[in-house]
Parts: sequence; C-alpha cells; structure tokens
Amino acid sequence: MSEAFLVAKGIAKRFGGLTALSDVDLEIRAGEVLALLGDNGAGKSTFIKVLAGAHPPSEGQILVAGQPVSFASPKDAAASGIATIFQELALSENLSISENVYLGRELKHSVLGVPFLRRKEMKQRVAELLKELDAHISDPEAPVGSLSGGQRQSVAICRALNLNAKLVIMDEPTAALAVAETRKVLALIRKLAERGCAVVLISHNISDVFEVADRMVVFRRGRKVAERLRAETELEEIVALITGAHPDVRALEKAQ
Ligand SMILES: Nc1ncnc2c1ncn2[C@@H]1O[C@H](COP(=O)(O)OP(=O)(O)OP(=O)(O)O)[C@@H](O)[C@H]1O
Ligand SMILES: [Mg+2]
Repeated sequence: MSEAFLVAKGIAKRFGGLTALSDVDLEIRAGEVLALLGDNGAGKSTFIKVLAGAHPPSEGQILVAGQPVSFASPKDAAASGIATIFQELALSENLSISENVYLGRELKHSVLGVPFLRRKEMKQRVAELLKELDAHISDPEAPVGSLSGGQRQSVAICRALNLNAKLVIMDEPTAALAVAETRKVLALIRKLAERGCAVVLISHNISDVFEVADRMVVFRRGRKVAERLRAETELEEIVALITGAHPDVRALEKAQ
C-alpha cells in the first residue's frame, strides 16, 4: 500500500455549542478512491470543508506529504494539491468550457506591456484533458450553460486536473444525475485514481460507492465509527454501520 498523501489527526470542529466533528483520524492515499458515508448531519461535508481549507478545525492536525499544514482558505489547500468539487460545482454558465477550466488562472502573454490571453493554448490543453478523461465533449469553446449535469461534472474534474491536484474531493457528484451520466462520472472517478490521484467521494448512493471506492469510512454524529476495505465488506454491513445497527457501532456508542 502506498504512503498516505494526507493524514488527518484528531480533527474536531465546533460551531458555537454544536460539535460537528470529534476526534477524526483518517489517511488518504495516492491512487485510491475513499468514500465517506453517513446519515444526514453526520459530519461528512464539514470534514471535507476542513480538508479543503473552507473551515479551520477547532482541534487536530492535517499533514500533507508528511508536513503539517494549516489552510486559511481553499486557495491554500489548492496550493498543497487539494482540489474540492463542491456539490454546486461553481461553474460560470456564460463562459466556455476552457474559460471555466482556466478561470482565475488564465494563461497570458504581454505584447508591448499589453496583456493578451493565450486562448489557443488554453483551448488545446482543455481539449487534451477532455480527451484524456474520455469525457465525450468535442468542443472546449462550448458554453457551460449548454452542457448536461454529467458534462458539467467533467468540466469541474478537468479544472481540478488542470490544477495538478493530488487529491480531488467530491461532495455528492452524482446526486443530480441520470443513470447514464452517473456511469460516466463514476468512470471518471476511477480514471482519476488510475492517474495516481487520491479521490475522496461523499455519496448517499451505496451501490455507486461499492462500484467505485477502494475503501469506505462511516461517520455517525460527527465521529468516524468504521473503516472498511471494499474487498472485505458488503452492502448490508455498511448499511448497518450507517444506521448504527451494527454491533461494532453499538459497542462504540455504548462506551461513549
Ligand atoms: N456552518 C455551520 N454552522 C453551524 N452548524 C453547522 C455548519 N455546518 C454544518 N453544521 C452542522 O454540523 C453537523 C454536520 O453537518 P454536515 O453538513 O457536515 O453533515 P453531512 O454529513 O454532510 O450531512 P448531509 O448528508 O445531510 O450532507 C450538522 O448538525 C450541521 O447542522
Ligand atoms: Mg453534506
């Protein structure tokens, strides 16, 4: 097994009097798809927001490639190779695919001190990325507003790849998608892992998770209650861990 890209140790997050996360330890390795599972309000989104630099943790430490990091913003996390695709995707409808992929990081050159965008180069790079992802989008100049949900997800993944992300975090990437589009996005997730990326996936769809994840972590009431390799578990066990019916979870919660 490869060395962990990211290690989270003892992560806690409080919002005023509410404890959203307590004492979460987790390792994320290059080339693996790790699924975060749990009921509504279990703390999954809060946890990835801590990893993504969107929330400072109340306690605990994050190490990236063995070094302690402290993120003040998602920009800081991105500089450490962590890209997060939030459920809302944050794409600009009116801009083209390639403009979205390069948004805020446009390639420029300057002629007599006047900056010009290197449009051709950006378009070419985005076309390459789309091809590499097998995204079936032929025109990087198409406006994002004209794309389907799954195609938009591909654009968001392209943007993460273009940042050279080592860890891509996705919150419910298939929640709004039809069956065929979901298949496409699951295939993209596997492709990212094959490229050596670590992928963290939040999903309520357990059969999707079983299809794509190498490892699963279950959250309940802000705590990590279980961790399983896909090869060593089955759907029923994961459901029991999520609902708390599993004896391991009962014993754990009794002890608290
Ligand atoms: N910004 C915030 N301010 C106050 N409380 C928050 C905030 N964000 C999350 N919480 C609370 O933290 C807890 C965990 O929420 P979180 O969104 O992490 O759950 P989740 O596992 O992602 O759930 P879901 O599956 O419904 O998305 C909930 O009780 C939620 O109300
Ligand atoms: Mg959530």
